[in-house]
Amino acid sequence: MSNRPDPALPWETSQRRNGARRGAVEWWHDAVCYQVYLRSFADGNGDGVGDLAGLRRRLPYLSELGVDAVWVNLWYPSPMADGGYDITDYRDIDPLFGSLPEARTLIEEIHTLGLRILIDLVPNHTSSQHPWFGEALAGGPGCVERNRYIFRPGRGSDGDLPPNNWRSVFGGSAWSRAVEPDGMPEEWYLHLFTPEQPDLNWNNAEVHREFESVLRFWFDHGVDGFRIDVAHAMSKAPGLPDLGPADIELIGSAAHPDHPHWDREGIHEIFRGWRAVADSYAEPRMFVAEACARNSERLSRYVRPAELHTAFNFDYLTSPWRAAQMRTAIDKSLTTMAAVGAPTAWVLSNHDVVRHLTRYGRPQAEGPVHDLADHLLAGPFDLELGTRRARAAALLTLALPGCAYLYQGEELGLWEVEDLPDEALQDPIWQRSGHTNRGRDGCRVPMPWSGDTPPFGFSPDHAGSDPWLPQPQQWERLTAQVQQDDEQSMLELYRRALHIRRAHPALGKGALLWDPTTGPGVLAFTRPPGFQCIVNFRPDALRLPDHDGVLLSSVPLDSGRLPGDAAVWLTR
Ligand code: GLC
Repeated sequence: MSNRPDPALPWETSQRRNGARRGAVEWWHDAVCYQVYLRSFADGNGDGVGDLAGLRRRLPYLSELGVDAVWVNLWYPSPMADGGYDITDYRDIDPLFGSLPEARTLIEEIHTLGLRILIDLVPNHTSSQHPWFGEALAGGPGCVERNRYIFRPGRGSDGDLPPNNWRSVFGGSAWSRAVEPDGMPEEWYLHLFTPEQPDLNWNNAEVHREFESVLRFWFDHGVDGFRIDVAHAMSKAPGLPDLGPADIELIGSAAHPDHPHWDREGIHEIFRGWRAVADSYAEPRMFVAEACARNSERLSRYVRPAELHTAFNFDYLTSPWRAAQMRTAIDKSLTTMAAVGAPTAWVLSNHDVVRHLTRYGRPQAEGPVHDLADHLLAGPFDLELGTRRARAAALLTLALPGCAYLYQGEELGLWEVEDLPDEALQDPIWQRSGHTNRGRDGCRVPMPWSGDTPPFGFSPDHAGSDPWLPQPQQWERLTAQVQQDDEQSMLELYRRALHIRRAHPALGKGALLWDPTTGPGVLAFTRPPGFQCIVNFRPDALRLPDHDGVLLSSVPLDSGRLPGDAAVWLTR
């Protein structure tokens, strides 16, 4: 029972600490938000795809887990060329997931449980099947409808070369050529992602008006906030100049100081407009940015007082499991975010990256690990080690000042499914990389809830279809049902940690003071009043300093010593 807290701690109370839950102003400063990747969370209608009905049935699980908010990934109508990040209607729900009335019910139910709800906003691109794009194609070169997107004549004598050398994040050119109904090729259009995701032209006032109206639509439906997809992409350099050689190497990153399409100054004006929309509501509304900036100072510009509220901390997510790198990521983020008065949004996994349990179960790189393809080169996977480190990482993350995002399944100890059969893969990265990069499906495999064979309660009994991605048989050990009765399980560790975090006055918002006496390979910090977190990244055990009690530990303590790759929360 090592991970149980001492009984009757003076601060433990059934009262919520300072109420990240509904009612509290600026709740995003210390909320724990759970990311529901809708298509893989719970299937209510038996078609093998997660949906609103499934999520509604599992809301008690989220409430009991102890999170404050739920970020529901894409639910909009979409042809699903990129898992739904290709939207045809920003004001409706795809029938695959449910209906608008059901979304309204879901929002109410989430609020009744005292939780908040965030949804995705995808402003950089629409689906190529969005009515606007149909009008742009039909209207031909020069029509006003085309000015909502980024169309250009091709280069070369026949215009058969793309307008510039920009590359799609998913592989290949970022340009595709439109074709007239009679088959004649005409202008090219820009898509930083798949050809089914044409980029919008944010120099067009109509695009601004449309998105402000979409924000209001969902705020009026009671949504508490938005996660802004590729928040660093909407502004493009005038004239659309070619990328330099260094930018081509670093396709997905904003490394270059004046990159022609990532992290440009023009973005901030858009966010100031959105902030004014959010601030016009009496009940607080918020934004969290998925933004890649070249350093944490640049990232902090997205969360200046009149702009977005928070931004995911990808430096933390991509750090290897090494004390020095983790500490650098933590320190830099805390300093740069504090300078603009914003909280840090800690995150270890999401639907785009290799699950951290798997990353940590491999030999650790000196620098960041992000891409599955790179990650596979890093050596064999040790499940026990990855699980042990993931347990420690949960305690580290939830002890840091600020808000935190959990990705569904991390609380069950799910690993990246790296052996999905080729024919099951659905991520467009697999096709567009010419089958060299297996993409992100491995972190999107449907949740195991109960039972000992797939679909593990993901779909109702006797469902007509298998889950949209196959689940490993070994997940029978990781179902929520199995873990809920096991005090040593990952699920119980998360529950205890979230419970303590909510009740303890030192956690969430507040100061972090590093302990100056710890040696290399250890992170130790105090959170006043009376809380200490120690993480041992080394393989050997560490003698704990004097303390008043043990609140929680990621593994059993060994006669007052903290074993390797483990973390502990102490009172002192
Ligand atoms: C974001 C999403 C990712 C999607 C991309 C394009 O990075 O998280 O899943 O493929 O944007 O919309």
